[in-house]
Amino acid sequence: MLSLRAVVLSFLIYSTWCEELSFPPDFMFGAASAAYQVEGGWKAADKGESLWDALTHETPSKVFDGNTGDIACDSYNQWRRDIEMAAELGLSHYRFSLSWTRILPTGFANYISEDGKNYYNNLIDGLLARNIEPLVTIHHFDLPSIFQDMGGFTNPLIVDWFADFARVVYSLFADRVKYWISINEPLGLCDAGYNGVIAPALHSPDLAVYLCSKYVLLAHAKAWRIYDEEYKPKYHGKMTISQLALWFEPLREEDEERTALMNAFCEERFGHPIFKGNWPPDLAMLIEERSFEKGFSRSRLPSFTQQEAEYIKGTYDYYALNHYTTFLVKIAEGNESGIWPFTGAPEIGVVFRQGEGWETAAPSWFGIYPEGLRNQLNWIREKYGDVQILITENGYADDSNGLRDVERVQYIKNYLGEVLKAIKIDKINVTAYTAWTLMDNFEWLMGYKIKYGIYEVDFNSPNRTRTPRDSANYYASVIKNRSL
Ligand code: NOJ
Repeated sequence: MLSLRAVVLSFLIYSTWCEELSFPPDFMFGAASAAYQVEGGWKAADKGESLWDALTHETPSKVFDGNTGDIACDSYNQWRRDIEMAAELGLSHYRFSLSWTRILPTGFANYISEDGKNYYNNLIDGLLARNIEPLVTIHHFDLPSIFQDMGGFTNPLIVDWFADFARVVYSLFADRVKYWISINEPLGLCDAGYNGVIAPALHSPDLAVYLCSKYVLLAHAKAWRIYDEEYKPKYHGKMTISQLALWFEPLREEDEERTALMNAFCEERFGHPIFKGNWPPDLAMLIEERSFEKGFSRSRLPSFTQQEAEYIKGTYDYYALNHYTTFLVKIAEGNESGIWPFTGAPEIGVVFRQGEGWETAAPSWFGIYPEGLRNQLNWIREKYGDVQILITENGYADDSNGLRDVERVQYIKNYLGEVLKAIKIDKINVTAYTAWTLMDNFEWLMGYKIKYGIYEVDFNSPNRTRTPRDSANYYASVIKNRSL
């Protein structure tokens, strides 16, 4: 017979083992969406026009099949169902964004829409009534057209226009919203926006990309400071910017230096000014050199004044990471080209590859390498110290219909597995995971072709019927059991 000591010991070993395999009790599991991708109601009540309304209506050929977000998932009307889904899943938070022109139809803070105010009040109150924390992104790619027509994020005045919007939003919702993101993915906004990949879908990879980088940071900083000074003392919320941190690893040893530059280009360009102050020196030097080589008399990356650099530094309360994939970096030889030649690649002289045996999601650049997420979390800590990290997006893209999404289940399981290792083994301060996305939606220039939803949406049904996929059921069970 087992002695009492042996029983107690086995029990202790067993419970430590269970604990090692479980997410911490206060770990937050959520799902995300963004206004233009789900809401529809593009001209409901007094809503003004955003740059996506303009692009999809004026140049439909730029979007897959001429799709628009005019109705999208109709969350403008179906928001109750969205809350119900979040509750079905057992989410602790739901990340969504605010449509600027639904709240401020003219773009300016001279007039606040009652309808816009009511829509978000209903959503926020409805979530809180189900114990689901709203995590609000103030701006997610849908700038008022009027501002884009005046240069958008390349115009220094955007700093004040955005800050005015942020102030209105705090005055309306800060009493109930504790988690804020100022601007979603500056890399997406600037680099994809000015490489023709998302609206405004213009082509200025050499110049606009860098102007936009400067003013997006100042706009974020101003909004953060308003919150910090005027609202945080009362409501104790947290705010940051969210980073589309494309993750790069070297293909070979000789590719290491340029890989570090790629990570500087895509992440530190925005992280360094916020967490450490000013542009990352190696990147600033590289762009300056390249600018001289191209015959410019100064760097195309506009410098910060001392005062601006100080103003941006420290404007975070946590780190928000959107992670999807990893690229292997290789020095480009001759005219070699690789997958997805984003702005940084020609600037740094590299091409991207995928690892041997990696599976790919629907877009050919989307390689699946879960370990990359853990490596990146370690890198973030190395760069910025023991900052609290919320994973604010992670998800799998396919282009097929159906509810049996085996690959997405596997993706979530494997990526969450790496998050667990980062928490338990590496002791990284990751406190949240947010699945992209709650339901199929308008995937920017890919329209409705590419799907990331854990709920399927029937875009032919009048009320955009939502049905859980296997991945939604799997995610709900992870949340319930707090283990994979
Ligand atoms: C990042 C963006 O924030 C989101 O809008 C987009 O749909 C997903 N990635 C997937 O591409």
